[in-house]
Amino acid sequence: MQESILGTSKTGPIHLPKDERSVEVEIQNLVKTFGKHEAVKGVSFTIGKSEIFGLLGPNGAGKSTTINMMCGYLQPTSGDTLINGRSIAREPRQVKRIIGVVPQEIALYNDLTALENLEFFGEIYSLSSKKRRVRAEELLHFVGLYDRRKESVKTFSGGMQRRINMAIALMHQPAFLMMDEPTVGVDPQSREHIFDAIEKLRDQGTTILYTTHYMEEAERLCNRIAIMDEGRIIALGTLEQLLAMRDQNREVQRPHGLQELFIQLTGKTLRD
Ligand SMILES: Nc1ncnc2c1ncn2[C@@H]1O[C@H](COP(=O)(O)OP(=O)(O)OP(=O)(O)O)[C@@H](O)[C@H]1O
Ligand SMILES: [Mg+2]
Repeated sequence: MQESILGTSKTGPIHLPKDERSVEVEIQNLVKTFGKHEAVKGVSFTIGKSEIFGLLGPNGAGKSTTINMMCGYLQPTSGDTLINGRSIAREPRQVKRIIGVVPQEIALYNDLTALENLEFFGEIYSLSSKKRRVRAEELLHFVGLYDRRKESVKTFSGGMQRRINMAIALMHQPAFLMMDEPTVGVDPQSREHIFDAIEKLRDQGTTILYTTHYMEEAERLCNRIAIMDEGRIIALGTLEQLLAMRDQNREVQRPHGLQELFIQLTGKTLRD
């Protein structure tokens, strides 16, 4: 039996040891222009192996546009993303295989059951029928919905649908997972399931980009945080580093949390 990312699996061979399956991500000067509007204005940062990196910002900051360029859904106006040194622009097929994306909008087949949804996406990733069944069942346990696997997802709450959305992104065992606001409209129970799952994935070596409006989520989960506003990163560091930042010109007090820091930096709240 092989040790899988989510425990033990009969299907092996599945996984490399943690260090070998962990990846480093380098975002190089991404720019995206829609017509005359520059939505992303030169964004660069790196995400370390097995790091949870938070991308925070208000509506329209450019978070989803950045993620969509990083995963190859959207062609950048300029710039690139490298995963362990490999470019998504130059080697899209190879790089996409190690990326998983949880999109901001829930994307499920409403008339299919939870299990059928996962198996369907497993087929897209060319998993054998046996492997997709094992993997789907493993992930249904992982997101706490195994008992509901035979029910159509249209009967699920928003939070349960978001958990299935997350499980789908994990079917091909990505080493780098991007999550675009995975807890919007989610009940507290589903939120805890999602947080537990993220922490387990991190412990197993997955590198994670986590996008949110909610400062308390970033404070709890993320090793480092970038604050984005109007297409630019305006601050980046650990929570402690961010809170220790001083606006020298205005000589403001040390902020008590990310919300206060954000107001100091931009004059607006994250939920504007
Ligand atoms: N396909 C598009 N065509 C034109 N403009 C777009 C397109 N996609 C995004 N934009 C614009 O780019 C800017 C950034 O949008 P984006 O969706 O990346 O923001 P966001 O930070 O993800 O916001 P939210 O928190 O609301 O999801 C916005 O002004 C948006 O209107
Ligand atoms: Mg968005």
